[in-house]
Amino acid sequence: MEATRLRLLSTAFSLILLLDATTAQMPGFVSLDCGGTGNFTDELGLEWTPDDRLIDGKITNISVANETRKQYQTLRYFPADDRKYCYTLEVISRTRYLVRATFLYGNFDNNNVYPKFDISLGATHWATIVISDANTIELQELIFLALDPTISVCLSNATTGQPFISTLELRQFNGSIYLTQYESQFYLSISARINFGADSEAPVRYPDDPFDRIWESDSLRKANYLVDVAVGTEKVSTKIPIDVSSGERPPQKVMQTAVVGRNGSLTYRLNLDGFPGFGWAFTYFAEIEDVGNKSRKFRLVLPGMPDLSKPIVNIEENALGKYRLYEPGYYNISLPFVLSFRFGRTSDSSLGPLLNAMEINKYLKKNDGSVDGSVIASVVSLYSSTDWALEGGDPCLPVPWSWVQCNSDPQPRITKIELSGKNLTGNIPTNLTMLSGLVELWLDGNSLTGQIPDFSGCVDLEIIHLENNQLTGELPSYMAELPNLRELYVQNNKLSGTVPTGLLNNNLVFNYTGNINLYKGGNRGNRNKIIIGSSVGAGVLLVAIIASCLLMHKARKNYSKQGQLEHPMPAQRLVSSLGDAAKDAAHCFTFSEIEDATNKFERKVGSGGFGVVYYGKLIDGKEIAVKVLTSNSYQGKREFSNEVTLLSRIHHRNLVQFLGFCQEEGKSILVYEFMHSGTLKEHLYGPRTYERSISWIKRLEIAEDAAKGIEYLHTGCVPAVIHRDLKTSNILLDKNMHAKVSDFGLSKLAVDGTSHVSSIVRGTVGYLDPEYYISQQLTDKSDVYSFGVILLELISGQEAISNESFGVNCRNIVQWAKLHIENGNIQGIIDLSLGEYDIQSMWKIAEKALMCVQPHGSMRPSMSEVIKEIQDAISIERGAKAAREGNSNSDEISRNSMHSSLNMDLAASENYLSIDESITQPTAR
Ligand SMILES: *[C@@H]1O[C@H](CO)[C@@H](O)[C@H](O)[C@H]1NC(C)=O
Ligand SMILES: *[C@@H]1O[C@H](CO)[C@@H](O)[C@H](O)[C@H]1NC(C)=O
Ligand SMILES: *[C@@H]1O[C@H](CO)[C@@H](O)[C@H](O)[C@H]1NC(C)=O
Ligand SMILES: *[C@@H]1O[C@H](CO)[C@@H](O)[C@H](O)[C@H]1NC(C)=O
Ligand SMILES: *[C@@H]1O[C@H](CO)[C@@H](O)[C@H](O)[C@H]1NC(C)=O
Ligand SMILES: *[C@@H]1O[C@H](CO)[C@@H](O)[C@H](O)[C@H]1NC(C)=O
Ligand SMILES: *[C@@H]1O[C@H](CO)[C@@H](O)[C@H](O)[C@H]1NC(C)=O
Repeated sequence: MEATRLRLLSTAFSLILLLDATTAQMPGFVSLDCGGTGNFTDELGLEWTPDDRLIDGKITNISVANETRKQYQTLRYFPADDRKYCYTLEVISRTRYLVRATFLYGNFDNNNVYPKFDISLGATHWATIVISDANTIELQELIFLALDPTISVCLSNATTGQPFISTLELRQFNGSIYLTQYESQFYLSISARINFGADSEAPVRYPDDPFDRIWESDSLRKANYLVDVAVGTEKVSTKIPIDVSSGERPPQKVMQTAVVGRNGSLTYRLNLDGFPGFGWAFTYFAEIEDVGNKSRKFRLVLPGMPDLSKPIVNIEENALGKYRLYEPGYYNISLPFVLSFRFGRTSDSSLGPLLNAMEINKYLKKNDGSVDGSVIASVVSLYSSTDWALEGGDPCLPVPWSWVQCNSDPQPRITKIELSGKNLTGNIPTNLTMLSGLVELWLDGNSLTGQIPDFSGCVDLEIIHLENNQLTGELPSYMAELPNLRELYVQNNKLSGTVPTGLLNNNLVFNYTGNINLYKGGNRGNRNKIIIGSSVGAGVLLVAIIASCLLMHKARKNYSKQGQLEHPMPAQRLVSSLGDAAKDAAHCFTFSEIEDATNKFERKVGSGGFGVVYYGKLIDGKEIAVKVLTSNSYQGKREFSNEVTLLSRIHHRNLVQFLGFCQEEGKSILVYEFMHSGTLKEHLYGPRTYERSISWIKRLEIAEDAAKGIEYLHTGCVPAVIHRDLKTSNILLDKNMHAKVSDFGLSKLAVDGTSHVSSIVRGTVGYLDPEYYISQQLTDKSDVYSFGVILLELISGQEAISNESFGVNCRNIVQWAKLHIENGNIQGIIDLSLGEYDIQSMWKIAEKALMCVQPHGSMRPSMSEVIKEIQDAISIERGAKAAREGNSNSDEISRNSMHSSLNMDLAASENYLSIDESITQPTAR
């Protein structure tokens, strides 16, 4: 079809950014300074251009201490709605590129919530950007093979804050180092690119690396990234040129430095973002030491992968000489999140191992996007000067364009086109008829001309709106055969001829008034009398349809109301309100019953700020804990009623069961089930620790139990309950060492509808949320803080507050643990009395604990996220435990526990290339 392509807008603006890449300093370099206002060249020689042709979003200036680069003084941000906001960049098909997006938040919106949103490349979810620090640059890189002349990078799905972007960079490769056989289905997402032995913390990049890859310095040790360095590790470097051949091998500057394991070993531990998963991993070696005729032979030792330890690296021999590159690696290897690796000298080698650089990328599965992608692209290309045609990216993924709806197939189809009143002119684009999944088509209120094209292939069409256009020609007869057509509107066009009789049936809502030359079958005299359809029958039908819709609507409403009632609302409905009715719901003990049960308060089993706890036994043999509240803990009867109401409606297997109360003789007494094994505190620090320290797996299980109890308080109770005084002495253990949370003495109902209640700050030093302390605004995140402290205690066996344990100037477990964990030194805080444990599960908990004790509540996870992490840690630990007990003789490295964890992770992989193909020979790139 010759689409008469009319520009409708005099003020045509462009959302798309088509950048001529060849004008940049290197062919194929695009450096977009998002929010910038002018071109400039940075100190590296990279030429930056502003993204000022983008009409979406707003730009703003930011200022971050010690960040002087111009491209980081501005950013562009977008509304936090359900749309996606895309940059479209020109690329050359069949060419490989690196795309890099960076995000420096700089508190641009003065919001106390850090942004979290998604970034996608075309239809593929690339990463979730989680800002956790206003002054740190978040960076994402992907290597891809361009298949189309453009790519789209889109931001969407803001779960907190607003999506924003600081820079977007494109770097074209010219060789094939990153060619893989999986390229058509997977992108490579960069996890680690490390320059070992670097002489400073600054990365090596352009112009040293002509492709501007960023080679991170190994002396820049971030929190638990590149740690556990073996004793005897030394840096070496040379000025002699290195033969790196051509192509995209690491630049000479990277290869001129290395680390050497003087004591025979090089060890490192890395956290690999995005893993566990399958990845592309290469190491780069060049002999740069003057070794005379001494030999240097070593092996890679990856715990749990004995096969990988067979091949021997002899750099000089493998590279065919000194100062030459040797680059063994794996195109497809399964790696864990926490990767510990070692290079170890062979027994006949006189020198320890040497390592210059390494690169690890994760395979990211591509999403092929909507099946209608290319068809709709041919349609929107006809309207390239209108904003709706330039939304960019895939029509359906990750979220659909604003005027499109899609189904939820893995490869979605377009089901609805909504272009009413968009000033469309010319013919209806024929390619729309190729959208075979179309259910609704809205093209009304435009200036479309010509005939109605053949939609007979769109058999799912139910609703067609073509009214108020300038369409001419006949109403096509296929319309009567569309099996699902329910509504057809063509009024106010210039259609002519006769209406196909098949359309004049009672099941179709059909309006064709206002077409002067359109006649009802063979009856020219009767034109234009028909408002809808042709008979009274249809009118009745319409009324019927409307009525039935209303009825359905109503029915659905009722249904959903019922649905709500069925929602779990724990015992709350049993208790109608405060006061006597409430007390009826809880069992009321008489004082003499209590006296008998406790044998006149004979055995004291505990005490706290709120009273003394006595052991008791009811007549039926049930053991109870009787808590006699000190007189001033409740100001009056009403407060006590509140408490009893609250307690009586909370039932959960991980909460200590409330059995009843007694209010006589001026005493307020609460009765609970008796917990045989005492408090968690006693087991961690008390005399009981000398009996037997609790194992790591047991600690994890206790944490899970307690977390579930707290989660129930936060989400299972209506209104939610905030504990306010979580601590190890409030976590009780039963005979079987299952944990339950106790002591709701400080609980307050969270006020419905708002996220906090204001009240006098109460809680226990060491566990108290600092934000709550300052603001007096209580939220469930205050409990999360306290729980984070408990997790740290479980890891370390240290009390929350101690004058001795944590060194000078630090009394607090949070500061102390944070310092260690962020420096990657988790070993420094682990309880010495723990037996074997798996380091990966330990890391998981340590990292989650740090999240829980973040200064701002909004940055802390919810209890359900915490539970998920604990459960993951438990399954890792169980797997590792099974492995420990299964094969006890494979002690390749000293830290047995670490070994087994990786063993488990890697055992699952069968997919890595065999040694012979890859590591023994330099890979044929
Ligand atoms: C900025 O650079 C781009 C491409 O590098 C060029 O097309 C544009 O004209 C330049 N703008 C100005 C104002 O110099
Ligand atoms: C950002 O700073 C530049 C120059 O420093 C200024 O011209 C511009 O108006 C500022 N933009 C905003 C949005 O404040
Ligand atoms: C900025 O740099 C100065 C000097 O190098 C240093 O003292 C200061 O701590 C840095 N500030 C930040 C926020 O990194
Ligand atoms: C949006 O983000 C949330 C949280 O990260 C995620 O669970 C959800 O799947 C995302 N939605 C889409 C459409 O990607
Ligand atoms: C319709 O789509 C086909 C393939 O999708 C394309 O080759 C053709 O040029 C398109 N026609 C128009 C008029 O855009
Ligand atoms: C359609 O065009 C008219 C006149 O040019 C303009 O005023 C109107 O805003 C346009 N409508 C849309 C939706 O683009
Ligand atoms: C049919 O279309 C005409 C013109 O838009 C309108 O006045 C009339 O109300 C429509 N009939 C029905 C039943 O919607």
